[in-house]
Amino acid sequence: MWDYTDKVMDHFLNPRNVGYIEDADGMGEVGSLACGDALTLTFKLDPTGRIADVKFKTFGCASAVASSSVLTEMIKGMTLDEAVKVTNQDIARALGGLPDQKMHCSVMGQEALEAAIRNYRTKTGGAAAKAGNIVCTCFGVTDDEIRKVVRENDLKTVEQVTNYCKAGGGCGGCHGRIAELVTEVQGEKARQTVAPKPVRPARLTNIQKIQLIQQTINEQIRPALRADGGDIELIDVDGNTVVVALRGMCAQCRVAEFTMKDVVQARLREFVSEDLVVREEQSS
Ligand code: FES
Repeated sequence: MWDYTDKVMDHFLNPRNVGYIEDADGMGEVGSLACGDALTLTFKLDPTGRIADVKFKTFGCASAVASSSVLTEMIKGMTLDEAVKVTNQDIARALGGLPDQKMHCSVMGQEALEAAIRNYRTKTGGAAAKAGNIVCTCFGVTDDEIRKVVRENDLKTVEQVTNYCKAGGGCGGCHGRIAELVTEVQGEKARQTVAPKPVRPARLTNIQKIQLIQQTINEQIRPALRADGGDIELIDVDGNTVVVALRGMCAQCRVAEFTMKDVVQARLREFVSEDLVVREEQSS
C-alpha cells in the first residue's frame, strides 16, 4: 500500500472535474493504455482568455486521478500563459507530496496540460507531435521530455527518471541513453552553478595559502571538470608553484594543457594569488 497523503486520498475518492468537454478549445492526450496510464484533458476558455472549464478522463492509479483532479482545480481561472508555467512539482506540492515511484503521475498531468495548450495554439490535433527524438520506445518518451524532467526535478539516476516519466521501465534497452541525458543535464547545471568567491585575507600565511588553493580547487575548478568526466587532485605547493594531477577524462584529454593554464591556473590566480604558477605532476 502506498503512503498517500490525505489530500491525495481526497482527490482520488472525490475527483473534481471528471469528464470530457465536447466543444473544447484545447485537448491534450498523453500516455497510452498499453503503458498502463492514459490521461485526456480538455479545457474551454472564457471571452477574456481565462480557463473557464476544464475536465479530465484518466485510466490510471490513485495518484494519476488525484494529480489530474488537483491540476484542474489549480488552473481554473488562469490564462494559458499562467497555466503553462505550472510544473509537475507544483502538482505534487498541491497534493502534499507523492511517493517517488508515483511522481510520473504529476508529470503526466503537466504534459497533458501542455499538450492541450499546444493543441489550442496550433490546432494540429489533440495528440500533437512531441518535441525531440524517441529514446524509450517502450513508453514513447523523447529526449526532450527526459531532459525537462531531469532539469526540473534535479534527477540523478536512471531509476529516478523511470519514476518520474516511466522511460526505462520496460525492456531496459534505453538505460544507456537515459544515463547520458542525466549526465548531460547535470553537467550543464554544474557549469552554471558558480560557487561564491572564497574570502581572501589581506596577507596569506603558507597554511592559509594552501587552504585557499584547496578550497578554490574544490569549489571553483573541480565541479567544472567533473561535469566533463574529469577530476583534479592537489599534489603539492612549493612556494608559488602549485603541482596538480588531472584525473579521469581530463588526464587523457588532448586539451589538457589548455585546461591547466586557462582553467586551473587562471582560477587560482584569480582567487588566491597572481603569482601562482601551476604545473602538472610528472609521472615517474
Ligand atoms: S526502450 Fe525504454 S524501457 Fe524499453
